[in-house]
Amino acid sequence: MLEHGGDIAAAARRYGIPAAQWLDLSTGINPQPYPMSPVPESAWHRLPADGDGLADLASAHYGGPALPVPGSQAAIQALPRLRTASRVLVLSPTYAEHAQAWRRAGHTVRELDAEALEANTDEADVVVVSNPNNPDAGIIPRRRLLCWHARLASRRGWLIVDEAFADAQPEQSVADRADQPGLIVLRSLGKFFGLAGLRAGFVLAEDRLRESLAEMIGPWAVSGPARFGARGALADGAWQARTRERLARDSKRLAEVLANHGLGPAAGTALFQWVPHERAQHVAEVLAHQAILVRHFPALGALRFGLPGEETAWRRLDETLAAVRRELA
Ligand SMILES: Cc1ncc(COP(=O)(O)O)c(C=O)c1O
Repeated sequence: MLEHGGDIAAAARRYGIPAAQWLDLSTGINPQPYPMSPVPESAWHRLPADGDGLADLASAHYGGPALPVPGSQAAIQALPRLRTASRVLVLSPTYAEHAQAWRRAGHTVRELDAEALEANTDEADVVVVSNPNNPDAGIIPRRRLLCWHARLASRRGWLIVDEAFADAQPEQSVADRADQPGLIVLRSLGKFFGLAGLRAGFVLAEDRLRESLAEMIGPWAVSGPARFGARGALADGAWQARTRERLARDSKRLAEVLANHGLGPAAGTALFQWVPHERAQHVAEVLAHQAILVRHFPALGALRFGLPGEETAWRRLDETLAAVRRELA
């Protein structure tokens, strides 16, 4: 199993600090999530129904034909099993589950940066990117992605675009083109909506591919309560608009707080900031001893900071970063 952010229990054990005292900035999950309505009784005791309107709601919301899946992670693991041995290019760095899933399914995988990926697309059967990218917040312009898709689709290849972090910055999304063969878009309710525990996401793709994927994942994969919660979140346009504005403000504020303490980010999305730093590990350790968990990427010499939620969390981050700065000096 790969390591991910958000494991407060492990941090609590490692640093000997009770879980309740931690400020978790180690993920890109919105700390002010969509407020779920109480789940109706029937959602618990009836089998989930494909005809409950969720797929239609998601298709209208994202602008492409959508299949509900139990988190985009489920699709990341299932997609490689829908192809015979293929040459796969995965953007690097990116969410590590992509390369692992393709390798485990027996494909030949190369991990390349965006430039090298573009240069090698004609020798690939499948290209996988995240846009905006996790962890370095890189963006590949929509026009460029559509061009890669055309090159791959002409040879029955696939372009997979993981748009888990696209909700707050939809300008570069290619979701509206996902009805075309060879373009597969992944969306998640875990990040912008803050519903990571719901385990609900979507695959946008042409009919045949959605059908094959649905068959592979099997019936009732998204639970009744998750489908109920997902419908509520997708239908609430007013909450989404407010959240987009708030995240834009908070993201700017986080970049400023970091920069004020000598940790100016190289890039950021609405939900996290990317901070290369020559003493990244030391900074992460000092923060952890103060019960603030951030994500450290040792191979990249960088830190990823998620958003604080409550005002007290912002103050605590600011004060602790001031102490880190003194320490580093
Ligand atoms: C880029 C990216 N894609 C997909 C996922 C999986 O998210 P989920 O399965 O909750 O939709 C993550 C989780 O961290 C992620 O960072």
